[in-house]
Amino acid sequence: METAAIILAAGAGTRMKSKKPKVVHEVLGRPLVRWVVEAAKAAGADEVVTVVGHMREQVIPLVEDDTDVVVQQAQRGTADAVLAAQEALADFDGAVVVLSGDSPLIRPETIAEMVALREEHNAAVVVLTMELANPFGYGRIVRDSAGEVARIVEQKDATPEEAALTECNSGFYCFDAKALFEALKQVDSDNAQGEFYLTDVLAISRAAGRPVLAYKTDDPEQCLGVNSRRQLADATAVMQRRINDAHMAAGVTMWDPATTFIGPEVKIAPDVELLPSVMLMGATSIGEDSVIGPNSRLTDTQVGCGCVVDETVAIEARIDDGATCGPRAYLRPAAHLCEGAKAGTHVEIKKSTVGKGSKVPHLSYIGDTTIGEGVNIGAGSITCNYDGANKHATVIGDGAFIGSDTMMVAPVTIGAGALVGAGSTITKDVSAGALALGRAKQSEIAGWVAAHPIEKKK
Ligand code: UD1
Ligand code: CA
Repeated sequence: METAAIILAAGAGTRMKSKKPKVVHEVLGRPLVRWVVEAAKAAGADEVVTVVGHMREQVIPLVEDDTDVVVQQAQRGTADAVLAAQEALADFDGAVVVLSGDSPLIRPETIAEMVALREEHNAAVVVLTMELANPFGYGRIVRDSAGEVARIVEQKDATPEEAALTECNSGFYCFDAKALFEALKQVDSDNAQGEFYLTDVLAISRAAGRPVLAYKTDDPEQCLGVNSRRQLADATAVMQRRINDAHMAAGVTMWDPATTFIGPEVKIAPDVELLPSVMLMGATSIGEDSVIGPNSRLTDTQVGCGCVVDETVAIEARIDDGATCGPRAYLRPAAHLCEGAKAGTHVEIKKSTVGKGSKVPHLSYIGDTTIGEGVNIGAGSITCNYDGANKHATVIGDGAFIGSDTMMVAPVTIGAGALVGAGSTITKDVSAGALALGRAKQSEIAGWVAAHPIEKKK
């Protein structure tokens, strides 16, 4: 049977106190609503519809590529939100999973289990429930004398007896599509909040004689909704632990999982060692036997095998096998350290290739530069790539040796095997194998100091 998912993401999220809508806030670099879309897909949803509303111009770009986007004009309740998706699912006859766009921790397996349970019993609906010691704020599951689910009552509508119930509605459901949209016609807003409650569909389906089931999870953590910054941090901690546990189970060492933050798309090979305070984000990958950290942040960066990346910030960079970085290196977009290359202390590299085995060990800026193999760049050397209006390229041939404190004023080419004297300002191309000196000649006046005694003030 086909499965569709409806993701409710039209609400405001006022408790976030933010100029961004709630579902746009991120957990480990991925927006809340994207976590839910990914979970729906991983659970096997053939079609995903996202219901947007409040500040939708910020939500739509996140979901329009791979889901159907529908607009709920006014936020009149969860039933009204689901109705906004009806047209997008007009020809659909199967199971409809309803998910909250603000609940990023839902496990794909749980969604799949709800779908299977509904199908097995041909139920109108399966609702995911949980036992909570402190159920305040949640809808409560009201069961009849036979123990069957009779209805859901919202906190604000609950009698004291109902409010004492501890089985709660998680806000995740699997419906039979036809039964859902049939029942939604009967939902009204005659309740304490004057809203159209999706939860009313359960009592309506029961009255129509269809089975209504609860699937109680023993992992309520996955139902955590994000309504505040506190809960955003809680959700981040849960996801961080899940991701780190999976990497450790797959053979990655972490000195301190609590200070290690890894995004959902990061790939790490076995026998990688992560030292404390490491952030790996975006499409970053780390090859076998590499050591990362402490204090490193890599985003969209590919690290090969056997690399040492110490106190480094890297964005859209590539670090090939056996290369080393840091401490305190900054690799900016399109920085590429080839096999065995080194970017050392306080070195910044942008849009440049450092060839095999070449070294930029100390205090340098390298931009728009191609460095060949076996090159050594002395401490404090800089490629002057920007003339205030345009960027220019520097090319340094294989085996060249650049003395300390050299300014290479681009565009400029330094030939293979050339030697540049320390303190040079290089403005013209240097031929292969030549010695280039671009500095003022040193002069000396003998005995000058003794002839000019300094009189100290009294
Ligand atoms: C809802 C359930 C409650 C459950 C709780 C679990 C109802 C009536 N109540 O309550 O039983 O325990 O979730 O977290 O459904 N939304 C829209 N459009 C709207 C209203 C809401 O898209 O008009 C979206 C929100 O953005 C949110 C989700 O639906 O993602 C849930 O809405 P919310 O107002 O947070 O419902 P709760 O009061 O938490
Ligand atoms: Ca909520």
